[in-house]
Amino acid sequence: MNGRTFPEFDNASRTVHKPHPHDSAHKHVTGEAVYTDDIPEPRNLLHAYVRLSNTAHARITAMDVSACREVPGVAAVMTADDLPAKRDVGPVFPGDLVFAEDTINYWGQALFAVAAEDLDTAITAAKQATVEYDELEPVLSIDDALEKESFVLDTKRFDKGDTDSALAQAAHRLDGEFGIGGQDHFYLEGQIAMAVPQEDGDMLVYSSTQHPSEVQHLVAAVLGIPDHGVVIETRRMGGGFGGKETQPAHIAAVAAVLAQRTGRPVKLRLDRDDDMVMTGKRHDFKVRYDVGFDDTGRIQGVDFMLASRCGISADLSGAVNDRAMYHADNAYYLPNTRIVSHRCYTNTVSNTAFRGFGGPQGMMAIEYVMDEIARHLGLDAFEVRRRNLYGIDERNETPYDQIVEDNILPELFDDIEQSAEYAERRRRVDAFNAEGGVLRKGLAVTPVKFGISFTTTHLNQAGALVLVYTDGSVQLNHGGTEMGQGLYTKVAQIVAEEFGIDLERVRITATTTGKVPNTSATAASSGTDLNGMAAQNAARAIKGRLTKLVSETWNVDAEDVAFRDGQVYIGEDAICTFPELCQRAHLNRVQLSEAGFYATPKIHVDKATLKGRPFYYFAYGIACAEVLVDTLTGEYRVVRTDILHDCGKSLNPAIDLGQVEGGFVQGMGWLTTEELVWNDKGSLTTHAPSTYKIPAASDMPVDFRVRLLDSGYNREKAVRRSKAVGEPPLMLAMCVYHALKDAVNSIAPKGTRVRLDAPATPEKVLLAMEHARGLGRDARAPAGSLEEVDE
Ligand code: MTE
Ligand code: MOS
Repeated sequence: MNGRTFPEFDNASRTVHKPHPHDSAHKHVTGEAVYTDDIPEPRNLLHAYVRLSNTAHARITAMDVSACREVPGVAAVMTADDLPAKRDVGPVFPGDLVFAEDTINYWGQALFAVAAEDLDTAITAAKQATVEYDELEPVLSIDDALEKESFVLDTKRFDKGDTDSALAQAAHRLDGEFGIGGQDHFYLEGQIAMAVPQEDGDMLVYSSTQHPSEVQHLVAAVLGIPDHGVVIETRRMGGGFGGKETQPAHIAAVAAVLAQRTGRPVKLRLDRDDDMVMTGKRHDFKVRYDVGFDDTGRIQGVDFMLASRCGISADLSGAVNDRAMYHADNAYYLPNTRIVSHRCYTNTVSNTAFRGFGGPQGMMAIEYVMDEIARHLGLDAFEVRRRNLYGIDERNETPYDQIVEDNILPELFDDIEQSAEYAERRRRVDAFNAEGGVLRKGLAVTPVKFGISFTTTHLNQAGALVLVYTDGSVQLNHGGTEMGQGLYTKVAQIVAEEFGIDLERVRITATTTGKVPNTSATAASSGTDLNGMAAQNAARAIKGRLTKLVSETWNVDAEDVAFRDGQVYIGEDAICTFPELCQRAHLNRVQLSEAGFYATPKIHVDKATLKGRPFYYFAYGIACAEVLVDTLTGEYRVVRTDILHDCGKSLNPAIDLGQVEGGFVQGMGWLTTEELVWNDKGSLTTHAPSTYKIPAASDMPVDFRVRLLDSGYNREKAVRRSKAVGEPPLMLAMCVYHALKDAVNSIAPKGTRVRLDAPATPEKVLLAMEHARGLGRDARAPAGSLEEVDE
């Protein structure tokens, strides 16, 4: 394929830093990979169905499920009152009820569940219930919530420098507002759990979850048994993208209580529509800005109001909105900043983690402002962005006081300027647009600086269990989960490298709470950083014991002992194979297994002010997009994209390249075609692929050039000097949105501004272009609203 390169690594490593295929790639293709729904069904399995509310806000006056119980084939019907213990599966704060109690708080809330011999029976039975309620006034939009001061958590703020005087003294000042849409995860495998009762009231749950430990904990609480009675197992997910960080606990809890009640295994698998209506998504945001800057476009001060729609409960909204605040600088030095973050309570589904975790929304705020400044001053947005970048030894303090120590942004700008032929293409695009035809072009470059670590500091820990057998093969387990991102492969590479054995000699088994306890979610892109280090620590401990055995047996210095190519070396001499040494260790009663642990160093945050060093390091990237837009329909194509992304010293350039490409395309979907539409009653009208448009293969950039940074290196000691790659590339897609905005602006007269909300769907692009044309006809028309379009 065009222009894709693997960086070469000239070091002695044999297994890490090499493009090994994903351990399940062949199984994904042949269909042999076992997802939760593919596990052979146990005898007596029941199928569950959850009845959802069809109003956004109401007081339940009567709910009668007795008719459901009469349907032949029904084994159990459970409402909130039938729950044996805890009724709430809120992950951090309470508020996520297993079943609605007195009130309905969003359209799609679970009312009760039925378990039956087959799914059709369960669905038929669930329809027999009568539910009566009195409608209440719902709060549906961010604007509505702001006006009513309807918040799910306290408002937070950053203050750095003196923003008010900086704004007052600045040579230029602009303010405005725009919206950023949410996003459905659209994992190919929907939410699912299968609960299988065990002896003594214990429960085994196969769950499609990024967070087995949390599912264990919440299922145990709902069942009313200790954590030790619940085992959660996850071999793989068919995608999670953050949508399986907290949401699976609810699905697993429903399956588990029904299994406990009936004493039979129960499977709950949501269909696509129910999944989209019932489970949380990316937060949509409203951004207001007030920015002051000098003649060169350098920002003197900026005041941001970020408001997000959290839905009916806190879920992870605290941390998501914190991360939005932490990323409202993106790549830029903001000397005087105020960031106010409102977390709105609305009668809509409780929004949750989604790749980037609030970061993308925060970054869109400042990128939008960069564009507005350039537009206002008549400068090239590329230059304005470059002028505002963090400096290397100065201008490097973030609004939350962390110093940016590993800045490579100026190099990325220089590289993309050359490799994407920016200046020449800028000229060509402008010349093309000057002809004033039906088609317009747009071009934009946007950078990414993404903080790596959970901002909730204690989550930055992981465990692993490494078992070496006497034949020299290794079984590896760790707390991380596999969702397609290649974590299992990378951690196996790390362990194989330690023992100097082939990757095939390391088998990673399904993630289970029975092997590694109290783990964090596989999230915040830090799966490899954390679990890779824990596994490396375990492997190094075993290797240390083996080395000691060699040095004692052969009477040599430990430093002279090495493991490579499946052999054990003393100096340059191979003395035995790795399996032979393992056998010898066993006969000498040397322990061949180890539990490893890792906690990220250096990070700390003041919980009240959010200031400190939340991130161990930053991952960087830059992208350039060119779009071609039809001004008569608003339809567009991305004709070319150039990406340069920093994975540090990539552990696996093949997998990392996949993450960069996939993340970019998912981000493009978020900012272009994926539009969530709720009607005025609070019902999601886009709950199937027929109405909700994720990018298809045909939406890929026609010319797609992706490179990993050749000189990649992580100055912090992350595992093997690599960098996390799961989320950062999603935000590279901001360049596509800004290229579309650039095309729209080409129609508007100089100095005017046209509001464009995300996602920039063809409809929105068309309306914005109509608006831009209107400005051309009447220069007095105000920017920011679309009302005066048709004259
Ligand atoms: N890649 C695939 N194929 N599928 C996924 O579900 N999730 C993303 C990212 N890449 C995801 C993915 C998200 S939201 C995160 S946080 C990281 O992977 C989690 O995995 P990691 O920490 O191992 O990178
Ligand atoms: Mo990813 S949103 O941190 O699961």
